[in-house]
Amino acid sequence: MNTKPTEQDVQPCTLIPRLKEILPWIGKSPVKKLHFEQGNLFVKLESYNHSGSVKDWAAYYIILKAIEAGHIHEDTIVVESSSGNFAIALAYICRKLGLTFIPVIDPNVNRDYETILHMLCSKVVKVRKRDAKGGYLLTRIETVKEICRKYKNSFWTNQYENENNYKAYYYGLGPEIGTQFDRLDYAFIAVSTCGTITGLSMRLKELYPSIVIVAVDVEGSVIFGTPPGPRLVPGIGAGKVPENLRFAHIDEVMHVSQSELVEGCHKMMKDQLILSGGSTGALYFAIHKYFKHKTTEPSANILFISPDGGKAYLDTIYNPQWYSKL
Ligand SMILES: Cc1ncc(COP(=O)(O)O)c(C=O)c1O
Repeated sequence: MNTKPTEQDVQPCTLIPRLKEILPWIGKSPVKKLHFEQGNLFVKLESYNHSGSVKDWAAYYIILKAIEAGHIHEDTIVVESSSGNFAIALAYICRKLGLTFIPVIDPNVNRDYETILHMLCSKVVKVRKRDAKGGYLLTRIETVKEICRKYKNSFWTNQYENENNYKAYYYGLGPEIGTQFDRLDYAFIAVSTCGTITGLSMRLKELYPSIVIVAVDVEGSVIFGTPPGPRLVPGIGAGKVPENLRFAHIDEVMHVSQSELVEGCHKMMKDQLILSGGSTGALYFAIHKYFKHKTTEPSANILFISPDGGKAYLDTIYNPQWYSKL
């Protein structure tokens, strides 16, 4: 057997230096103090990240760790079941690295996001067959597995089960918040894959031991054991319990309905002049409900993470024809 290294073997991997060029574009998102009577309410606007959402943290860290572990090489095909912010974040990063990325999406994809994915990815797979539960999640996962079987050089980022999803927030966003606040009493965090809440709750409890972590979910999501139901707004909620959740430190859970979420988005726009995505509206609604019945010190510091901005939701959450049918 010839064990002499080939020219390809001795080529230095350029993926990591190229990936690190993106780092200055992730994080350092602004924190705004909002008008609120029951305490000092702050929002951290993650829409200021490179691809427009909080998912840049997870995409960056998952890809970095996969390269370091030798799971991603220059010729790897990255695959993920997502039509939302995670797919967009991966599409930007893979394009930057020259890696092929195949997002597996379904007919519920936001039109603008589908356009962006087609611009950045040579192949986008759209499933159309509903699964046994009436949704598309299981069909999408099955399709991802088929693609991985077909291409031996593929890598599934698997955001629901990949521990580097929550570690991205433990090592990234969490310490950044630590530099922005001397004291925090409450953090309200929206949930889907539970990467954000798991990593942040671990880090924030270390930094602020008496902080109260409130998870905000949407009705119809099964994450906290409530029955499944239709969910029309992407980004918040899940049809299965994410693996990562078992490491989270959550003190309270709140559920909002789809129409409360929409109300929260419109209220946020009117009160604070911030056009935000659906999960931010859910958080804003939940915070008002929570503090309506709770007296807290006027000096309490309350933070919520706004995962994305509202422009992608103009056809839905901000469109009266759409939301009047809820
Ligand atoms: C708009 C929006 N809000 C909230 C979340 C929830 O974040 P996580 O998946 O880390 O629970 C996501 C995740 O994709 C999102 O896109």
